[in-house]
Amino acid sequence: MSKQPIGIFDSGVGGTSIWKEIHALLPYEHTIYLADSKNAPYGPKGKERIIELSIKNTELLLQQGCKIIVVACNTATTNAIDYLRTNYKVPFIGIEPAIKPAALNTKTNAIGILATKGTLSSALFSQTSTRFASDVKVIEQEGDGIVQLIEQGKLYSEEMRDLLSIYLQPMRDSHIDHLVLGCTHYPYLTPLLLDILPANIKIIDSGMAVARQTKAILEKNDLLSDRKSTPEPEFYTNLHTNVLNDLVKNKAKIEFLDF
Ligand code: DGL
Repeated sequence: MSKQPIGIFDSGVGGTSIWKEIHALLPYEHTIYLADSKNAPYGPKGKERIIELSIKNTELLLQQGCKIIVVACNTATTNAIDYLRTNYKVPFIGIEPAIKPAALNTKTNAIGILATKGTLSSALFSQTSTRFASDVKVIEQEGDGIVQLIEQGKLYSEEMRDLLSIYLQPMRDSHIDHLVLGCTHYPYLTPLLLDILPANIKIIDSGMAVARQTKAILEKNDLLSDRKSTPEPEFYTNLHTNVLNDLVKNKAKIEFLDF
């Protein structure tokens, strides 16, 4: 048993989509979330820089006594999780695009994946893709600009709609029946995507799987909390708090921290 917090970090506000799943599944766990919005987006950065930023976020969460760290960012997971697991003792949970269920369930033999450049160009992504989707047509699309718009609070803007329409057209042309959201910012796009895409296309993200894995690893290491009430979640951003406030409609502490 451990009352220590679960630490969660992302390049910005997107990982709150993962925090929501974790908080729903493990309501008695204390959670600390870091939004590294000052350095967003991570997607166009090189592997070395992504590792450096992931170390910075990890160290801060460890200073807060976190018992497990959830890398709530596909780009940081695919580029830095091996380094983190090798160099720190706490367990790390990562997130990767859910290619496997999409490839297993496709009827049209075509799936789409929307992710950042950093994720799509990573060795881990190409291994997963080769392993699970080598018989399937995979339409990869970099989501240039999407993270920035979300970070600026322009989630449901005309600009976003226009960008998505352009990015999704090649997928529609290839008759995909599954769209994999390979970035933790993207689940917030779901209402727009449902509006733009034909109804037969299933949208898949990995949020629930990450929450289940977090619970399983805490259980395995005897680290679950035995609290009977929900502690106040803590959110820290190194930019502005307003976008986080909009996304986390919850009783939470949301503060600026210069990290
Ligand atoms: N939420 C991050 C991810 O899952 C966004 C990456 C970025 O900042 O470009 O990949």
